[in-house]
Amino acid sequence: MGRVMDKVALVTGGASGIGLSSALLLAKEGAKVVIADFNVDGAKAAAQDIKSRGGEAVGIFLDAGDENSIKEAIKFTVKQFGTINVLYNNVGSTNLKKDLDVVNMDLDEWDRLMNLNLKSVLLGTRFAIPHMIKAGGGSIINTASMAGFFSDSIRSAYGASKAGVVILTKYIATQYGKNKIRCNAVAPGLILTPAAKNNMTPEVLDIFAKFNALPYHGEPEDIGNTVVFLASDESKFITGQTIQVEGGHYIANPSIADFEDYMKK
Ligand code: NAI
Repeated sequence: MGRVMDKVALVTGGASGIGLSSALLLAKEGAKVVIADFNVDGAKAAAQDIKSRGGEAVGIFLDAGDENSIKEAIKFTVKQFGTINVLYNNVGSTNLKKDLDVVNMDLDEWDRLMNLNLKSVLLGTRFAIPHMIKAGGGSIINTASMAGFFSDSIRSAYGASKAGVVILTKYIATQYGKNKIRCNAVAPGLILTPAAKNNMTPEVLDIFAKFNALPYHGEPEDIGNTVVFLASDESKFITGQTIQVEGGHYIANPSIADFEDYMKK
């Protein structure tokens, strides 16, 4: 018996990285999965992969920056599998050339990221909730980021949008908890997804590794396993929380790695 047996799950941004890993793990634990992504070929390939292992999945197109497209993805899920029990709002992005410090950042990029990273969570949730109420409850999971808790010299819009995801998660949990709808988020630290690997040189990865409590980087499965837990009834008394999956990168005095270097001298 799988941990999310027969639950119907919609995963946005499921063709790659964290979303892909989560979709595969949800399916492995018995969920029927709709994989929705801008990259529709990737979404279909992921669904095919699940089906070839005996699972149930469909890949569809989604533009998470577009209200109507999100509405259609929820509608499709309910039509395909009869209901929606799990919504994983995972799409998010930034553009490191435009999402800069507050003086120099491109304001169109600010608007784009608020729409794509934050409003998409609101919209997916808004369209899924009536179906979840009908089904007697559900689990909504959002991808936040450690960038929503700690500031940086750039990525101002990304961080602000992800902090928005953290608090919106609590609002949703508060407003619909009595309907047995839980809402939680996962805040990844650096996770070695294709996006992260493309954006980072080996030197940058070394800087991250230096500040991790654990001696390794995060993998997409580290988030996927958390998502399965939050989707399953194992987490039935957990709501409004953001689980930080970040290798202990942010737990200690930030200067500890430099002090250790100093003590070795
Ligand atoms: P990824 O680039 O590997 O996967 C993102 C997926 O979303 C891709 O399949 C892409 O086609 C899809 N996508 C992009 N824009 C879309 C749109 N408008 N509509 C529908 N689909 C769209 O990225 P990754 O790393 O797996 O990121 C997933 C989430 O995790 C994002 O919300 C990101 O902000 C968050 N995150 C990732 C971290 C990391 O280190 N990888 C750290 C913290 C948060």
